[in-house]
Amino acid sequence: MYLKNITLRQFKNFSQDSFEFSTDVNCFIGLNGSGKTNLLDAIHYLCLTKSAFQSVDQLQIHHGTDFFFLRGSFMLEERLLELDCSMESGKKKQLVLNGKAYQKMSDHIGLFPVVLIAPDDNSLIREGSEERRKFFDNILSQLSTSYLGDLVRYQHFLKQRNALLKRFQETGKVDLPLLEPYSRELIQLSKSIYSRRAHFIANFRPILQKHYGYISMKGEKTDVAYVSDASESAFEKNFRSELEKDLLLKRTNVGVHKDDYQFSLDAYSLKKFGSQGQQKSYLISLKLAQFDALKLEKKQKPILLLDDIFDKLDDIRITQLMKLVARQDFGQIFITDARPERSKKIFSDLNVPAKLFDIVDGKLAGVATM
Ligand SMILES: Nc1ncnc2c1ncn2[C@@H]1O[C@H](COP(=O)(O)OP(=O)(O)OP(=O)(O)O)[C@@H](O)[C@H]1O
Ligand SMILES: [Mg+2]
Repeated sequence: MYLKNITLRQFKNFSQDSFEFSTDVNCFIGLNGSGKTNLLDAIHYLCLTKSAFQSVDQLQIHHGTDFFFLRGSFMLEERLLELDCSMESGKKKQLVLNGKAYQKMSDHIGLFPVVLIAPDDNSLIREGSEERRKFFDNILSQLSTSYLGDLVRYQHFLKQRNALLKRFQETGKVDLPLLEPYSRELIQLSKSIYSRRAHFIANFRPILQKHYGYISMKGEKTDVAYVSDASESAFEKNFRSELEKDLLLKRTNVGVHKDDYQFSLDAYSLKKFGSQGQQKSYLISLKLAQFDALKLEKKQKPILLLDDIFDKLDDIRITQLMKLVARQDFGQIFITDARPERSKKIFSDLNVPAKLFDIVDGKLAGVATM
């Protein structure tokens, strides 16, 4: 699978432009603020129906205008698929594949798998458990639409149950039978989401360890542990025994919405003890393992988006990563770099054919191949 071309209209700092891509390496070059990351985000948008950086769709619309439009032509097993994504100010976004509009955005997730490595990914390690759940849920959702469906239902019932708990507090009237259907759904869905997360992590762990070993060329033992309320055999009892606390705090205190994934190096917490370099290597390994997991399940190579990757890595790691690229482990790749001479040197040293796009102030100013 690869992206043949893309057209952007009034998307972020782009007014109107089209790009014809190489099936291998594409590199967006330009000064800070020129629009390189915005281009990666447009690709991310077409693959996952949302921005990787900005959750408010409205903010993608070019300043001073009232809609944006993206069109991407993808090749998927010899078939040409044309995807349009548009949004008018104040309206819902529209997604149209080969002339047919999607009813639900979630139906599109997984058709064009994508992996993004971006500089602010550190929040995966530094921030709370929500970031890590989002990361793994994003992979699992691309792997399985039924997982995504369960997750959407879980969020729905959780919201409803919490709203009821709040209402009980406000009115001083507790109506337990009203709460019961929501509790039952959450318990059932927790069990099914738990088993899929646990199964996924068991397979993901050795892949993560392999990548960390390769990139860092060091022997620290990398690990990831999945921690969930739902792993307890007494899960249902625990869920129900928290009712008093739930009523008091007006929210549900047990369930897979509290799950976490613990990252470690040599059995010590990566967040607390890992050096910056170790944390970066771990992050890249996580993303490469994500790539492998999607590739295995989808039987096709996801699109790889590398934002400012060179700035975040030392020379050894850049070389190791680009060697992977040269070995054809990856399919189509999009890279951004603010320093053209550096990218050109890396690609020519490793003999990697690349198409370079020169971006100036939200416009395509030139194309070169090497
Ligand atoms: N909705 C919008 N309308 C117009 N311009 C926007 C919009 N959203 C973002 N921008 C502009 O896009 C520019 C940032 O683009 P982008 O993040 O792609 O830059 P970049 O080339 O990746 O830069 P860097 O090298 O610093 O990472 C900023 O100037 C920002 O103001
Ligand atoms: Mg950028």
